[in-house]
Amino acid sequence: MDFSNIKTYSDEVIEEAVSTLTKEELIAFPTETVYGLGADATSDNAISLIYSFKNRPKINPLICHVINKEMAYRYCYETKLSNLLAKTFWPGPVTMILNQKKNNGISKLVTANLDSIAVRHPKNNIFEEIICKFDKPVAAPSANISGNVSPTTAMHVYEEFGKKLELIIDGGASEKGIESTVIDARGDNPIIFRHGPITTEMIENKLNLKVLSNLKIDTVESPGQLFKHYSPNKKLIINSLKVGKHSSYLGFKNMMPDKQFKGEALNLSENGNLEEAAANLFTMIRYLDKNKSKNIMVAPIPHDGIGIAINDRLERAAQ
Ligand code: TXA
Ligand code: MG
Repeated sequence: MDFSNIKTYSDEVIEEAVSTLTKEELIAFPTETVYGLGADATSDNAISLIYSFKNRPKINPLICHVINKEMAYRYCYETKLSNLLAKTFWPGPVTMILNQKKNNGISKLVTANLDSIAVRHPKNNIFEEIICKFDKPVAAPSANISGNVSPTTAMHVYEEFGKKLELIIDGGASEKGIESTVIDARGDNPIIFRHGPITTEMIENKLNLKVLSNLKIDTVESPGQLFKHYSPNKKLIINSLKVGKHSSYLGFKNMMPDKQFKGEALNLSENGNLEEAAANLFTMIRYLDKNKSKNIMVAPIPHDGIGIAINDRLERAAQ
C-alpha cells in the first residue's frame, strides 16, 4: 500500500498544510481529542468538499478551530461565560456555541445557516501552528465518513479516506480519544450539548457555576446529536455482563471473560481509569471490528466523570 500521503511534523509539512488550505483543499491532522478533517472556514468550495468527502448531512454544522479567543471574537460575540470558559479550558477540549456576527465571512455551510457558531481552540502543537500560520479559522469535523467510528490515529484516517486525501499529518495517538465537550456559552450558565473530556463536575468546580440540564434540549439546537454515530460494522452490545461464543469483548477493570473464553478480549482500563478508557475506546472498537467475531460486547462503564461521555458514545454506536 502507498502511505506517501501520511507525513510527520516538519517545517515543510506545515507549509504544505497551509498552502493546501489556501488552495481550498482538505487536510487531516491530529488534535488532542480525535483527528480532524479541515478546510478554510471562509470558503464555500472547501467546506462543500468536507460534506461530500464525509457524506455528512448538510444540516450538521462544523466547529471552527481558532488560535485564541481574539480570533474567535472576530466572528462571534463574546459573553462573560465565554471569557471564563476560554480562560479556564482553552487550549483544550471545549467547544463553545456563541452568536455569530453578521457578514463575518464564515461560510454559511459551516454553520448550517444557524445564527450561532461553534468555536474551539485545540491543544495540539501541530494543529495550533497550522491555524496560526493560516490566520483564519479552520473548520473541522472528525476525519471519518459520517456515522463511522472517530479516528484517533493517522492510520484510522487512512482507513477512512486512503489516498483521496493529499495530506494526513501523523501526530501520534490522540491524547483524549473522544470529541470535545460542546457547551452553549450564550447565557449565564453553561449548557452541555455534547458530553466530552471536560466534565460537568470540572466546569462546576472551576467556574463555580451550575451547569444546566441538557435533557430537554431541542435537537435542532444541537444537530449532531440527531445522527447515528461512532458505529463499527459489527453490532455493538453494551452493558454486557457476559460474553457470547461468537463475540469479542471490550472489558473494563475486572470485567473480563474467564480463561475458557476463546475469542478476543481487550480491556479499556485494567485499573479502572476512565480517562484511559476514553483514550482507548475508539482504537479498541476499530481493532475488534476487524477480527472474525460476529459482534462486540462491551462491559458496563461507570457513569462518572468522563464515563458519561464514554456511555454517550457507546449508546449511539449501539443504536
Ligand atoms: O473534538 C472535537 O470536537 C473534534 C475535533 C476535530 O475538534 N471535532 C468534532 O466535530 O467532533 P464534529 O463535526 O464531529 O462534531 C461537531 C459537533 C456536532 O455535534 C455539531 O452538531 C455541533 O458540534 N455543532 C457545531 N456547530 C453548532 C452550532 N452552531 N450549534 C449547535 N451545535 C453545533
Ligand atoms: Mg464526528
